Amino acid sequence: MEQNELKKLVGQEAVKFIKDNMVVGLGTGSTVKFMVDALGERVKNENLHITGVPTSNRTAEQAKSLGISVKSVDEVDHIDLTIDGADEISADYQGIKGGGAAHLFEKIVATNSTKVMWIVDESKMVSTLGKFPLPLEVIPYGSKQVFKKLDAKGLHPKFRLDDSGNHVLTDSKNYVIDLHLGEIKHPHELADYLIKQVGIVEQGLFLDMVNTVIVGRQNGPEVIQ
Ligand code: 5RP
Repeated sequence: MEQNELKKLVGQEAVKFIKDNMVVGLGTGSTVKFMVDALGERVKNENLHITGVPTSNRTAEQAKSLGISVKSVDEVDHIDLTIDGADEISADYQGIKGGGAAHLFEKIVATNSTKVMWIVDESKMVSTLGKFPLPLEVIPYGSKQVFKKLDAKGLHPKFRLDDSGNHVLTDSKNYVIDLHLGEIKHPHELADYLIKQVGIVEQGLFLDMVNTVIVGRQNGPEVIQ
């Protein structure tokens, strides 16, 4: 099976965990897109009452177009389950997210959820985090100073630019800096350091946050609880 087929498979598996009347956090990315498609089918065919809490404008538009009712995180009093993708998941189930520049809203929704589920194809499972560049959402004002500090600390920062050389902007109109680290030996220490830097709004390490992981394997989805 190709990567996209595995992503579709885990998306379809994930929506089996959604029950009528749930408030569901909807992540962002290509894997989540398959999951939202599958949820749209269930909502239509089974007449389910689901409230989706999207983590990006992209996901909100898709959910609405499929007839899934959508509320912002501040309009709900709880979120039962958030289903999101990930860029890397380590052997001890820590994650890197933000490849789609949505990790700030994703983290806000995840930390306000009773349960968090990540859905990934098997290529995302790694022994140690860090091969995937670690995304940081930074305020544009002073971002070059933040960049210099990170560079001086040996964290190999790169501003994320689009094909025309313009800054990629998050839904909050912030910039993204990716740290090309290769390996993250001490994720908790790194997360503590990064979040203390003025100008960094959020960093992409999602630590001690996930309850269920569904991995798309060649022989079918593996559900890890
Ligand atoms: C967006 C994310 C995504 O969940 C992550 O990048 C995985 O995306 P995909 O499913 O397209 O591989 O964190 O900010």
